[in-house]
Amino acid sequence: MDIQKAIEERHSVRRFLDKPIEGEALERLEAAIAEANRESGLHIQLVRDEPGAFTGLLAHYGRFRGVSNYLALVGRKSSELEETVGYYGERIVLEAQAAGLNTCWVGGTFNHRKARYQLDEGEKLVCLIAIGYGENQGKPHRSKDMAKCYELGSRQMPAWFAAGMEAAMLAPTALNQQNFVFMLQDGQMVSASSTGGPFSKVDLGIVKYHFEAASGHKVITQ
Ligand SMILES: Cc1cc2nc3c(=O)[nH]c(=O)nc-3n(C[C@H](O)[C@H](O)[C@H](O)COP(=O)(O)O)c2cc1C
Repeated sequence: MDIQKAIEERHSVRRFLDKPIEGEALERLEAAIAEANRESGLHIQLVRDEPGAFTGLLAHYGRFRGVSNYLALVGRKSSELEETVGYYGERIVLEAQAAGLNTCWVGGTFNHRKARYQLDEGEKLVCLIAIGYGENQGKPHRSKDMAKCYELGSRQMPAWFAAGMEAAMLAPTALNQQNFVFMLQDGQMVSASSTGGPFSKVDLGIVKYHFEAASGHKVITQ
């Protein structure tokens, strides 16, 4: 499965089968995590066979069922941590999708007391990603009008920019808020900014990754 297909087929899945992640899928997932950590300096951890984080009221409220594996998105505290977590976390999500797994980003609705992960000095947990084999493949989210999410100035929209925007609109965002704007600058440059809301910096990293993967153009943060 190529990355474009993974972008199209990924939807949040909150109910999982009692089936362990092993073999080739596990190898691909672990390789993607190791590569992301190496490039970014993050400390993302795969936690397996640990159902505690998705027990209790919040997880129930979030309608999660059968979650026993998750990614703990941990990194050193800094003003860039949230966006970096979004960017690299989504890169892992798409690789997981391509390996036949399902995922759901989880910022709030997990059991904070029971989640298991390692925090080194100066680090913090940003959020989790539930991962495993879904009971189903999820379904497409309702989407904002794409025209609200970009600015071209007086420029025409290049085909690569349209491809990037379409991929960004398919990205997961907290509460499906889609609070981001991509701006086409001179010289084929693209910048992106968030228009606020909970986890909006994480969301910005996620949508930037989708845009870059589909358009082949690097995005700078404004
Ligand atoms: C940063 C972030 C935090 C999220 N937190 C939660 C959460 O706490 N509980 C939950 O059920 N879904 C959570 N989600 C999943 C979103 O609700 C979901 O991505 C959005 O509705 C779009 O749907 P889709 O992922 O199927 O495209 C989160 C998503 C993101 C990106």
